[in-house]
Amino acid sequence: MNRSDTLIKNQNLLIGITLRSDLDFMKKNKVAIIGAGAVGSSIAFDLIIQGICDEILIIDINEKKAFSEALDLKHCMAYSKHTTKIKASNYTECGDADLIIITAAAPYIQGQSRLDMLATAKKIVKSIIDPIMASGFAGHFVVITNPVDIISYYIYKLSGLPKNKVIGTGTALDSARLRSILADLIGVESNSVQAYTIGEHGDSQMIPWSTVNIAGKTFADILKDNNDRLGTTDLNQILEETRRAGFEIAAGKGTTNYGIAATTVDIVKAVLNDENKIIPVSALLEGEYNQTDVYVGIPAIVNGKGVSEIVELHLTAEETEKFDQSVTIIKDYIAQL
Ligand code: LAC
Repeated sequence: MNRSDTLIKNQNLLIGITLRSDLDFMKKNKVAIIGAGAVGSSIAFDLIIQGICDEILIIDINEKKAFSEALDLKHCMAYSKHTTKIKASNYTECGDADLIIITAAAPYIQGQSRLDMLATAKKIVKSIIDPIMASGFAGHFVVITNPVDIISYYIYKLSGLPKNKVIGTGTALDSARLRSILADLIGVESNSVQAYTIGEHGDSQMIPWSTVNIAGKTFADILKDNNDRLGTTDLNQILEETRRAGFEIAAGKGTTNYGIAATTVDIVKAVLNDENKIIPVSALLEGEYNQTDVYVGIPAIVNGKGVSEIVELHLTAEETEKFDQSVTIIKDYIAQL
C-alpha cells in the first residue's frame, strides 16, 4: 500500500468507518540489506535518517559484523524522527520483505575493473539468491554488486522474478557524478543539472550530450553563450572524470560508500513510495533502444511496480553507436554467465 492509501485509510479509521479487518494499513515496509560492509551500513544509516522504511534486516556472512552494525545503527533511534526496527538477521526472515538490497561483494582490489569482479561476484550472488528465493521472497531486488548490469541480469534469471522487480543501480551514481562535475563547471547546484550517463556502469558508459540541459537550455547552447569561460571545455575529459570517479575515491579510501548509498536509497524510496521517479537504473531491455535481453543503465520510470517503463532518449547516430558499443560489452560478459 502506498502512503496516500495509508493516509486515506487512517482518515477512514478516525471517522469510524473502517472495520478492524482493514487494519492492514498498519503494514510496514520491510527492507533487507545483504552485506554489512561500508555500502550496506551506509545504506541502512541513510534509510534510518530519512525514515524511509519501518524495518531493516542486516544480513552478512560475518554474523558478528552484521550484529555490531545493527546494534550501532539501533542507537540512532533516540535521535531519529521515524522509528525503524533494525536487527541482524538471516535469509529465512526475508520471505515477507518488500525489498532486498544486494551489496555483497569481495573486497575491491586496486587496479581491478568492475568487469574483473564477475567470476567472484557470481559465486557470492548465487549463494545469496538461492536461500532468499527459498524463503518465499516475492518483492523487489535493488542490486549494487558489480559488475552491476551483468549481476542484475544474473539475479533476474536466477530469481525468476519479473523483470520490473530486479533493478540495478545502473548509471544512477555515474549520472550524479556527472551532474556534480557540470554543476561545479557552470556554477549551479547539481539538482539543477539534467544529465545522464547511460550504458555500462563501468568504463564503456557514455554521455548523450544532446540530452544534457540546464533549465531547458542545451549544453551546446550553454557552451556557445559562455564561450569566454567555457570555450575550452573538453567533453571527453568530463566523461573520463565521471567514469574514473569511483576509482579515484577507492584509491584514497579503499571503497566508495556514501554516493552509492544515496543513489540506492533514492531508488528504494521511489519503489516504496510509488513515486514515478525517473532514475537511470539498470533494467532489462526488450526492444527499447533496439536492444534485447540485456540489463543496461538507461533512464526509467521507477514506482511501486519497480521499473515500470523505460524512457527512450532520442540519441544522435554517434551517441547510438557509443551506447551500442557499451551494450555489446555487457552482452559479451552476460554470455559468460
Ligand atoms: C562506484 C561503485 C558502486 O562506482 O561501483 O562507486
